[in-house]
Amino acid sequence: EALTPGTTWTDKGSYPNFLLKEINEQPQTSRAAIGALFSPVAEGSAADWGSALDRSAVKRVCFLGCGSSYYAGQVAASFVENLARIPATAEPAAEFTQRDPVVEPDCLYVLISQSGETLDTLHAHRFLRRHPVQVLSIVNVRGSSLDRESDASIPLYAGAEVSVASTKVVTNMQIAGLALASWLARADYGSKSAALLELDLALPILPTILADLLAGQDAEIRALAESVHAFRSMYYLGRGPSWPVAREGAQKIKEISYIHAEAYQASELKHGPLALVDPDHVSVVVAANDAGGQQSATLIGQIQARGGAVVVFSQHQDYEFDAPTVRLPAVHPLLDHIVMGVALQVFAYHTATILDRDVDRPRNLAKSVTVE
Ligand code: G6P
Repeated sequence: EALTPGTTWTDKGSYPNFLLKEINEQPQTSRAAIGALFSPVAEGSAADWGSALDRSAVKRVCFLGCGSSYYAGQVAASFVENLARIPATAEPAAEFTQRDPVVEPDCLYVLISQSGETLDTLHAHRFLRRHPVQVLSIVNVRGSSLDRESDASIPLYAGAEVSVASTKVVTNMQIAGLALASWLARADYGSKSAALLELDLALPILPTILADLLAGQDAEIRALAESVHAFRSMYYLGRGPSWPVAREGAQKIKEISYIHAEAYQASELKHGPLALVDPDHVSVVVAANDAGGQQSATLIGQIQARGGAVVVFSQHQDYEFDAPTVRLPAVHPLLDHIVMGVALQVFAYHTATILDRDVDRPRNLAKSVTVE
């Protein structure tokens, strides 16, 4: 099936809603993004957008976006730091312009948006374009305001996203973050470092991993959703790069299930949020396949000691946690975060449908916010 920018996928076919359809499109849409953004020549490759930038001048990267695009920017920032060893941050686009920021000449500003029409993001872009700085966009909708106003932009190849809650686009934004991080990393090395070669080897496998997850682990993720759907309050706890992944997971569950959810860095729990943990409260532990297995076990024990419920999404292959756990594959330290993000989408989807929510049109929300 041709997956060209501008494709309108507005027929949900046999799916009960667009959200489920779009979650399940991710093997295909991620493959399209990887194929184009990592190709040496295709439209959307670094040869295209990178030619408008001076990478040797980039000493810092700042991602700006709203909502899920901001969280995707935060994941992308961790990719830039990890691969390119360039300091990178993310900030909500509206906050950036409202605080009269210091615009740093050696910072690459990256605007990130599904619709390309979010007014807060457009304002940040227009503000930055009045300064002598390098600006790049990551945008899904071709021909949108942000796309048209950008000198350099990375397209996302996700097709049209209809459901209000963003899923397949968030995943491709993270892939675009990897493409940007890889391009920045090569400035230092000339040829590819071992880390980049490893990433190149692992990337083509990602769509298959997502397909296996969506087909093979749906039932167990739904069982976990069954066990939490009656709670009124949740924490999502992640460490390091898992924190923005947890933030996006909490965002998704708030948006479509209306359960109150907050994400914290796991280490922060004991410094305040622990006060709310009791038998009416459930924590979702987001455990990447890193060296922190023991820390996650300790965290789970601290919550359970206060009577709090815990469920775990774990990528540790050899570590058993003493709580209901969905164990996800671990393929590559960076790609694992993308896989985790998709599992948390499925979890939010099931929780919301068990609660009989209108997942495509959550109350009070719009797909694109074109007002301040
Ligand atoms: C709205 C949507 C969110 C989205 C945000 C940014 O609030 O409900 O799902 O993440 O806008 O949208 P953008 O199109 O700029 O990515």
